[in-house]
Amino acid sequence: MADGSLRWWDREVGYEVYIRSFADGDGDGVGDFPGLTEKLDYLAWLGVGIVWITPFYPSPMCDFGYDVADYTGVDPLFGTLDDFDDCIAQAHQLGLRVLIDLVPNHSSDRHPWFQASRSDPDSPKRGYYHWRDPAVGGGPPNNWVSHFGGSAWTFDEASQQYYLHLFLPEQPDLNWSNPNLVREFDDVLAFWLDREVDGFRIDVAHGLVKNMLMPDNPQRFATAPGMSPRQVFGCYEHRYDLDQSGNASIYRRWRAIAERYDALLLGEVYLRENNPDRVSRYVSAQDGLHRAFYFAPMHTPWEPSAMWSTFRDALDAAPRDLSWAISSHDDPRAPSRLGGGEMGQSRSLAYSVMLFALPGLPFLYQGDELGLEDVDVPLDQRRDPVAIRNQNPADGRDGCRTPMPWSPGPAAGFTDGAESWLPAAREDGETVSVQRGEQGSILHKYRKLLALRRERHDLHAEGLEWLTGRTSSVIGFRRGDTVCALNAGDVPAEFQLPPGQWRLAFSSRRPAGAAITSAIVLDAPEGVLLIRVPDADSGLRRPPGARL
Ligand code: GLC
Repeated sequence: MADGSLRWWDREVGYEVYIRSFADGDGDGVGDFPGLTEKLDYLAWLGVGIVWITPFYPSPMCDFGYDVADYTGVDPLFGTLDDFDDCIAQAHQLGLRVLIDLVPNHSSDRHPWFQASRSDPDSPKRGYYHWRDPAVGGGPPNNWVSHFGGSAWTFDEASQQYYLHLFLPEQPDLNWSNPNLVREFDDVLAFWLDREVDGFRIDVAHGLVKNMLMPDNPQRFATAPGMSPRQVFGCYEHRYDLDQSGNASIYRRWRAIAERYDALLLGEVYLRENNPDRVSRYVSAQDGLHRAFYFAPMHTPWEPSAMWSTFRDALDAAPRDLSWAISSHDDPRAPSRLGGGEMGQSRSLAYSVMLFALPGLPFLYQGDELGLEDVDVPLDQRRDPVAIRNQNPADGRDGCRTPMPWSPGPAAGFTDGAESWLPAAREDGETVSVQRGEQGSILHKYRKLLALRRERHDLHAEGLEWLTGRTSSVIGFRRGDTVCALNAGDVPAEFQLPPGQWRLAFSSRRPAGAAITSAIVLDAPEGVLLIRVPDADSGLRRPPGARL
């Protein structure tokens, strides 16, 4: 691929800011725009290029902002529209791009559209949502279940009909088969693009369109009492509620809008089966989304053959259009998931080395760069409705959402206020200020990795050559003059390098700099980046970063 065809995001690493937990500027215990704006220089120092900010719109906060009551405002909890503008301006001044989180699958039940829709069956807004009569003989219209537990339908006494919600009852699903609703969102996109945002992370991007006949979903496994909502959801094949082909026409429309602003459309395509062919359909068309998160890295066990299948299949299906992340605000943090303690942290960093070198757009979740593990939030301090409403704390997401630790102290520098919305305390060594002061810290390693990824033009170009096979515990590949290898096995393993002289540019385990020919023995776990040293005698000397 010629450099000319690179888009601005192709060189960048993204960073997810869960705004409630990033930095509190006004001492009320909840993160906000003034807090975030103050910390942008940290993100620039770290070397990320794109900041994704989770929802900040006016909201009753039943799902902490993913229940939007006004798509073109800022909730006072997070500041004002002026604070938002300041944040974007400051980010741009620092060379950072900003994505905001668009939540089009559902609104809040407090959104004026839903209020009108609910209060009057003849309202023009009735058709913005999915209303259906009870099934013959009574009960919900079909067997669809909510991600967050129970039926996906709630009965409305006044109109004697049910409305659909694939998440909480306070998050009614919007009807994307309604052309007026479609037009409303054109305006929402334009509103924020005119305020200079650089693109959108699209929530539940695979869910917008529903099969309007609303047939029952086939059931794959029997449900059992005591199953978590996630497990119950997984017992069904989501043939009619998710991943409908009609989604493509919405993204075609949005792509045309986005292109006018050179903006990025990044979808959350969270298909439980992690089927790369299905995810790739969202990004492979030239008129679809630019990038889609592929969530397999968050669900694949640390086991070489599982990892091999995950990455080879994904890159076969979508060679350059996926987005990678090891953690998010919805799943346990990588170090906790990958064994905990030092082992979990080592694996997470090694994993990041590989994800940063693969084609696609990698993202960090706030605190990944510090090696943070989940916090075990005491039951009486849990806030996530998934935990609280189902009396099933194991399924909640609070552990990965606790505040970002900035500096030693009772609230880890997150807030000056008395209390933070989730417990903020952390060990001193987990904080930004302590790790910034220690050259060997996880934070400095990530910073180095980010700098290398930006410098190495090989890693922004198309193409990848696998250097090891599916039976190897080392996942190794070459992109131009850069080689990446990850030992995902339990014991050290030798990795054969292509011919030539190589320099160890980064290792998750040892200092960089060594010259290496033919092979390197990788620790378990270890992720490395090696750069080819131009051969002085062959006359094939290339400028650094030039491709083969
Ligand atoms: C997405 C968000 C998650 C939210 C859900 C409903 O999966 O990442 O946090 O609860 O959508 O909006």
